[in-house]
Amino acid sequence: MDYVSLNNGIKIPCLGTGTNTYGKENNDYNGKLNGDYSALESAIEMGYRLIDTAISYRNEAGVGKTVRDSGVKREEFHLTTKIPPQEEYTRDKETVRQTLNQSLVNLQTDYIDLYLIHKPIDDEERLKATWEVMEEFVGKGKIRTIGVSNFTEEHLLKLDKFATIKPAVNQVKSNPTEWNNDLIRYMLKRNIRPQAWGPMKTTEEQKKKLSAIGESYNKTWGQVLLRYQTQRGVIVIPKSHNPKNQQDNLESLNFTLSQEDMKKITLL
Ligand SMILES: NC(=O)c1ccc[n+]([C@@H]2O[C@H](COP(=O)([O-])OP(=O)(O)OC[C@H]3O[C@@H](n4cnc5c(N)ncnc54)[C@H](OP(=O)(O)O)[C@@H]3O)[C@@H](O)[C@H]2O)c1
Repeated sequence: MDYVSLNNGIKIPCLGTGTNTYGKENNDYNGKLNGDYSALESAIEMGYRLIDTAISYRNEAGVGKTVRDSGVKREEFHLTTKIPPQEEYTRDKETVRQTLNQSLVNLQTDYIDLYLIHKPIDDEERLKATWEVMEEFVGKGKIRTIGVSNFTEEHLLKLDKFATIKPAVNQVKSNPTEWNNDLIRYMLKRNIRPQAWGPMKTTEEQKKKLSAIGESYNKTWGQVLLRYQTQRGVIVIPKSHNPKNQQDNLESLNFTLSQEDMKKITLL
């Protein structure tokens, strides 16, 4: 596995697995929980160590149990979870503390590697209270790194007004149908690590172009796409229920795209 450094000096795998349909009937995001974490088991067995869950995925407990049962040492993993912005979870500081503590219980762990605010909290007081409690948990050693998700430049500037600890990560949508490149460039300039969610979304036309680029490297369109992101410093968390695709995604790290091909991909 390859790692990149965050602005707090902590190293994080540059590729991980998403989990938003794991443990659910018909691999459906809104499906009933059915306890089937075989896709996560296979990812861990192959060497995935960055695992991305969220309270709103309803599967923190199943993810925590699967990680624990894997027999791999806790310190090898980089577990990410996210607090939803709704008042139910962020009403006041005490509510935020309860939310974060519940994640620790669900994930069966003493510390969470990366805790994100899942979506912008528009109410500035609630945003401030949530961030301050997250900072408090870093101080207590219960969270190692804090960050945000789906924040625009404007949202990040709001956080600047009071954040003692700067966000280390902003997890945003990035794929060939919407690279989000202005925001990604802004984050890289500010040393806020971009993490791409939904990285595989690609049109048939784009797949053809990526496959053509991949031919000379003997790589698939998906591998070319993921390598483009990691090569420019964007962490990726593709999700797959298919072990062959999981393995391919992992093997996107073992080649280097030429500068010329990097440019072609930006312009897809
Ligand atoms: N922060 C946020 O707001 C937010 C929002 C959405 C998602 N996320 C996180 O980001 C993760 C990834 O996003 P996502 O699950 O929405 O979508 P994704 O990873 O972009 O795409 C998943 C789809 O891509 C396919 N796939 C994966 N690898 C492939 C490969 N090598 N070749 C061909 N097809 C491949 C999968 O099919 P197979 O199963 O058949 O392989 C699956 O249908 C989520 O699981 C979640 O953890 C965060």
